[in-house]
Amino acid sequence: MLESSEMNFEERMVSPKKTENDNEDFEVTLRPKTLSEYIGQDKIKENLSIFIEAAKKRSEPLDHVLLYGPPGLGKTTLSAIIAHEMGVNIRITSGPAIEKPGDLAALLTNLQENDVLFIDEIHRLSRSIEEVLYPALEDYALDIIIGKGPSARSLRIDLPKFTLIGATTRAGQLTSPLRDRFGVIMRLELYSVEQLSDIIMRSAVILGIACDKAGATELARRSRGTPRIANRFLKRVRDFAEVIGDGRITEDIAKIALDRLEVDSLGLDNMDKRMLNMIIKGYGGGPVGLETLASAIGEEAVTLEDVCEPYLMQLGFISRTPRGRCATALAYKHLGYEYKENADADNGQLTFE
Ligand code: ADE
Repeated sequence: MLESSEMNFEERMVSPKKTENDNEDFEVTLRPKTLSEYIGQDKIKENLSIFIEAAKKRSEPLDHVLLYGPPGLGKTTLSAIIAHEMGVNIRITSGPAIEKPGDLAALLTNLQENDVLFIDEIHRLSRSIEEVLYPALEDYALDIIIGKGPSARSLRIDLPKFTLIGATTRAGQLTSPLRDRFGVIMRLELYSVEQLSDIIMRSAVILGIACDKAGATELARRSRGTPRIANRFLKRVRDFAEVIGDGRITEDIAKIALDRLEVDSLGLDNMDKRMLNMIIKGYGGGPVGLETLASAIGEEAVTLEDVCEPYLMQLGFISRTPRGRCATALAYKHLGYEYKENADADNGQLTFE
């Protein structure tokens, strides 16, 4: 069940989070299985291939890996690829799903040598579970306390060697003892239009959808740097192509379909526009604090921060200053407002008075 506060956000066509419509089969079919099939994130791929080769040569598990970055960029996909390239199994779980220390103990004791344990949203692990994880990560051991009070005893159980891959959208919320136990920390970046277009063309071939290069580029341009959104668009726009066109996704069909879905030429939807409009019209271009902005438009601050901001910042539409968020000249232009130089005089800059 979705919480009511999440409803609006989850229903967005441009939500990078997994929604109830992104069924598992669809994502799994499209998921690349090897590093060479995976498009984009070139630096991460290059480094990972070296770490994987080295670990395999030593017949050791890969060091623990932390993947962070905005949702929908392929953290789970990359983890499955790592396991595949290492020739081991992957167990997938998430921070909120591990409720009791016993849940984690059960997962860890069921691993085989060198397996990958993937914990999504690892910043949501409770402190008591983190405590169980530390000896598991460092010594491949579980410390179990038997009994209570003065007669309590500690028993150490050896675990198979394994690799933890943690994924999070908010690396800053990880406790430092947990963060320090990852040997490899990698940040995933938003994808370029060219990379997204390649991903769309690849997905179209797999799903048997006719899509030309210009159609793919138009979908890519509106996908907010996020493969999950790009693949969702491909599926939805195919419906328009079949009903109002000849089945082929062309630039025109892509434009018509996404306009109808209220996703604009750069991928902005109503929520982004309400946010930008509020900064520009409500607060003279900013600066305005995130909490103030969120309550002014009736959204959660975390939604604006995790979902709207990374893309609006990549577009250069907003800047974050110590005193709050500001809209830039580019944002004014995109929304059709005249930019007033003094509207954000201290936009992005510290002023010294
Ligand atoms: N599908 C989703 N993400 C992908 C990626 N990075 N490369 C190829 N296909 C994908």
